Amino acid sequence: MFIFKAAVVGAGAMGGSIAQVISYSGLPVIVKDVDQHQLDLAMQKARSIYEDRVKKGKMNASQVEDRMALITPQLDYAGFDDVDIVIEAVPEKMVIKQAVFRELDGICHPGAILASNTSALSISEMAAATKRPNKVIGMHFFNPAHVMKLVEVIPGQQTDAETIEDVGSFARDLRKIAVVVKECPGFLVNRLLAPYLNEAAYALQEGAATTSQIDGAATQAGMPMGPFMLSDMLGLDICYHAGATMYQAYGERMRPAELMQRMYDAGRLGQKAGRGFYTYGDDAPPTLDDLIVQVQRETDKLTKDFNVDRILLPMMNEAALALDEGIAGIADINTAMMAGAGMPVGPLAMADELGLDEVLQRLEAYEQQFGPRFTPAPLLRQKVAAGELGKKTGRGFMEYA
Ligand SMILES: NC(=O)c1ccc[n+]([C@@H]2O[C@H](COP(=O)([O-])OP(=O)(O)OC[C@H]3O[C@@H](n4cnc5c(N)ncnc54)[C@H](O)[C@@H]3O)[C@@H](O)[C@H]2O)c1
Repeated sequence: MFIFKAAVVGAGAMGGSIAQVISYSGLPVIVKDVDQHQLDLAMQKARSIYEDRVKKGKMNASQVEDRMALITPQLDYAGFDDVDIVIEAVPEKMVIKQAVFRELDGICHPGAILASNTSALSISEMAAATKRPNKVIGMHFFNPAHVMKLVEVIPGQQTDAETIEDVGSFARDLRKIAVVVKECPGFLVNRLLAPYLNEAAYALQEGAATTSQIDGAATQAGMPMGPFMLSDMLGLDICYHAGATMYQAYGERMRPAELMQRMYDAGRLGQKAGRGFYTYGDDAPPTLDDLIVQVQRETDKLTKDFNVDRILLPMMNEAALALDEGIAGIADINTAMMAGAGMPVGPLAMADELGLDEVLQRLEAYEQQFGPRFTPAPLLRQKVAAGELGKKTGRGFMEYA
């Protein structure tokens, strides 16, 4: 099915930016919200993204007006009977999402695709609120949607092959890289980023190194952004809730660092709050150091040294677990982490480069020291046992000529 007209429900941080992306591809898009102020902000945001392009000489003023005219902000569902796809971007609460899906199912034509931009909730559960579960799918954009290249495409239990294909080609029409991901908590990118962010918080609370030392080590190892800079940008409330969901789903290896709870309770939510792991303006108590001291008093755990391995290895290990579970293939895992998290090479390629025997050995040593957060993936053991050690042997997760 070709998509001629689209709609977005929820004009917040993501919805407004997704509508701009759709209009940029030349398609008309309705944006619906329950709050006029949010619609106004979304239109301002879209205009400012276009104006930046004008400043860079990539568009002219009349092209901006043409594109802006493609976006129709509104408070009702007028015109939704005529759209081919709707992307839902309302708050991350299942009751709100299901209510929206139920409404959409009653209004949109039976062939219309209903997609969700959820970061972690079950697509199948949203699909259950409709009479067209075969047409319901996850379409997970990354923030900021007009910059980030990746879209995770997540079929639910009953999504049909045509819908997966249509959403993949729609994403490519939007100039995005689409990676199909099997449904699981955190999907792919957030699931792999979770142990990176969480382990950094453990290292910090144990006094192994400071925020800037850990962030510096990560960027030196090739990450586009250190874990604390990234957490502050994403919002620690979002990290906290996603961390809790993943802990519930994956168990001990995702047990959140105590410091994350403290940060959340103290309202140190990152950039949007003016303070998180870093401060943006004046600091206010409790400071990060206060919270670290509290955690140290409570847990009585201190470590001396910090090596960047400590935060990168759990991500590589999680990639091996996701691969083994069939969440995505090798190339897609690497691509998703490059396009969605800005890594210069994907985590499986990184492991191959390091040597899978070395990865295994270091994970085992960390497991001894820190427990199940480092328990090696069975697939990693199998590869090492088979002599598939990565680049140096010509075969690891990938093959090398
Ligand atoms: N913020 C991110 O970094 C990010 C990244 C990827 C995915 N997501 C996901 O995108 C979704 C939206 O997140 P956000 O950060 O844009 O949220 P947000 O709070 O900024 O925006 C949500 C918008 O939905 C509107 N809304 C609430 N109920 C509604 C309803 N019944 N009908 C229509 N509009 C309604 C609100 O008025 C608000 O404008 C969530 O599922 C989130 O997990 C967020």
